[in-house]
Amino acid sequence: MVDSLDVFLSAYSFEEEDVRDKTVVIIDVLRASSTMITALQNGAKGVIPVGDMNDASKISHNLDAKSFLLSGEKDGIKIQGYDLGNSPLEHSRDIVTGKTIILNTTNGTKAIKRAGLADTIFIGSFLNLKFLVEHLNQLEGEIVLVCAGWKGRLSLEDLLCAGNIIYELTSGQLPQHARDGAKVAFGLYEKFGNDIEGSIKSSNYANRLKDIISEDDLSFCCQHSIMQVLPVLNEGIITDLNGKKK
Ligand code: MLT
Repeated sequence: MVDSLDVFLSAYSFEEEDVRDKTVVIIDVLRASSTMITALQNGAKGVIPVGDMNDASKISHNLDAKSFLLSGEKDGIKIQGYDLGNSPLEHSRDIVTGKTIILNTTNGTKAIKRAGLADTIFIGSFLNLKFLVEHLNQLEGEIVLVCAGWKGRLSLEDLLCAGNIIYELTSGQLPQHARDGAKVAFGLYEKFGNDIEGSIKSSNYANRLKDIISEDDLSFCCQHSIMQVLPVLNEGIITDLNGKKK
């Protein structure tokens, strides 16, 4: 039984100490979490999240050139010289099977790096929501949901997803021990949860990146619980906890 639930609104809204020894879920619906989950669902060997281009290049130099793909974006745009951007649709089975993905994104992978003192780091989005909740339901102790947000600000899509996770985890009854962040996320889900895709398509992200990101990406990332993948970080690499062949 979980004895504390909290939500942080962006990658920069928490101190590293806030997550020490806790179970953390990193949520970046648009699009880093959705891309990692999709890559693993499609047979990628693992995803290495990096904080910047230097780290990506150092790691890639130590790997066999055929074994990895460099993926990532800066301000939504594919990084020059990388194999792929940060679109889940680019991480299709024919491209990622058997590959390690080195992923470098504006907020999502930075949130993961900043949560390094956590006991366990899972990756969540709408795509694997029910599967993630089934697992969280079996845990004890404190669960912290970290929304990646955008450059220190909150993003509706991440907070809505956090609220949906809390709603499912608590069967719609917010417990006494829920912290303020969890209450805000829960309330947001109660308000907008009946139209997740519509709410996300009118969010700041959708407006900010409307000329850069395809609408197919937005629709893809709004699909609910279609993947049974639970990405977990272990020694710098994210793999599926169950390791089942997809
Ligand atoms: C991020 O990490 O900020 C993103 O996932 C941005 C994006 O590519 O959509």
